[in-house]
This record gives sequence, structure tokens and C-alpha cells, in this order.
Amino acid sequence: MALFVVTIDGPAASGKSTVARRVARRIGATFLDTGAMYRAVTFAAMQDAVDWSDEAQLVGVVERHAFAFEADDDTMRVFVDGVDVTDGIRDPDLTANVRHVAASPPMRARLVEMQRQFARRFGRVVTEGRDQGTVAFPDADVKFYLVADATERARRRKADLEAQGVAADLDELRRAIEARDRSDESRAVGPLKPAADAICVDTTRLTVDEVVEQLLNRINAGGEQP
Ligand code: DC
Repeated sequence: MALFVVTIDGPAASGKSTVARRVARRIGATFLDTGAMYRAVTFAAMQDAVDWSDEAQLVGVVERHAFAFEADDDTMRVFVDGVDVTDGIRDPDLTANVRHVAASPPMRARLVEMQRQFARRFGRVVTEGRDQGTVAFPDADVKFYLVADATERARRRKADLEAQGVAADLDELRRAIEARDRSDESRAVGPLKPAADAICVDTTRLTVDEVVEQLLNRINAGGEQP
């Protein structure tokens, strides 16, 4: 089966997952949430209480546990050892620990392999992450890179949390987002950066609907730069 892959990369809270989910639905593709894969491995590593500085121990996590990723409507459900952890992996303590997994070259290699397997299995995917256009799918059909300023991203995150009944401090959220940007951009392997052939979209002043429409227009045009 021929693959059709759309990649959407960008920093934390740039609206990638909401947009990727909606674009996937509109073009009849499966949504691949690669951040959720990093989170699943982090979840298992925390269960095992691994020493983050011991790479062999960390890599052992993928041998010891079974990871499964299933398409469920427009959500990617995540299973660790048969248990659905789709909601549990959003925990803030876990989020703070993902960087240990994200910074490990052998772990990234395993995760990129899982991402390619997922794409081969579903054939037509919209994948979202940090290194999808650069490392995982360099030959993707259309590549996007979404950005938004940090204050706007913090505002969106705060609104999301409040919608779930969780109070949050805007400055604290902005600082956490900026810290994650630094760690995502500065790692030696799979750092956050646009692919040379990615279409960059600044979403700071755009609604989700506007971003989705822009992306769909570009996909329909075959991903050509304006
Ligand atoms: O998109 P997210 O917040 O669920 O991602 C969680 C973390 O995983 C993020 O801080 C960086 C890492 N990540 C990565 O290194 N590469 C990816 N393709 C996706 C996520």
C-alpha cells in the first residue's frame, strides 16, 4: 500500500494535536500522536522507577513492557501492558519527565521505528510531533511546522485546563512551556526544528478553524510553498 504522510511539527502547546486530529478526519487519515508514544514510554519508566541517568536501564523499558497504539475515531489510544493509559499520560509530573526519554538517542530510534510501523499499518496518516518531517518521515507528502508565541500558547493551555476544571497560573504555564522549548530545541538528536521543505504557519492570531483550513488548502495544492 502506498503511504500518504502529512507531518505537523512544532513546539509544545502550538495547537498541533487539535489541528492534526481535525486535518486527519477531514482527509480520511489516521492521527498519529507521537508525543503520546514518548509519554507511554515515560509512564512505563516511572512504573519501573528507572534511574534516568542510566541509559541501559531506560532502554530496557521498551523490552520489558508491551506498547500498543490504536486508532479510536480521532483519538490515538495508548496501552502499556494492555492497560489503557491514554488519560494518565497527561499527568504534569510525567510531562516533566518526558525529556529524559526524548533526549536518549537509542530511545528515539525505537520510537521512530514505532512511528514508521504505525504509518505502514494505517497507510494514510497525519503525524504530529517534533521531528516528524526531519527524521521520522523525511519523504512525507506534505510537511508543516506550526509556531505561536509563548504567551499565547500559555493562554491556550490555561483555557484547556480550565475547561477540565483545573486552575492554572499563566506565568507558571508560560515558564514551563519555555523550558520545554529549550529542552526540545537543544537536544542533540531529533531536536525541534522545521524541515527545510516544511510550510511554516504562525498560529498566534489564527483560530483552530483557520489553521485547519490553511493546512487543507496546502494539502489539496500538493504541499507547494506559496
Ligand atoms: O507533544 P507532547 O507535549 O505530547 O510531547 C511530549 C514530549 O515528548 C515533548 O516535550 C517532547 C517529546 N517529543 C519528542 O521529543 N519528539 C516527538 N516526535 C514528540 C514528542
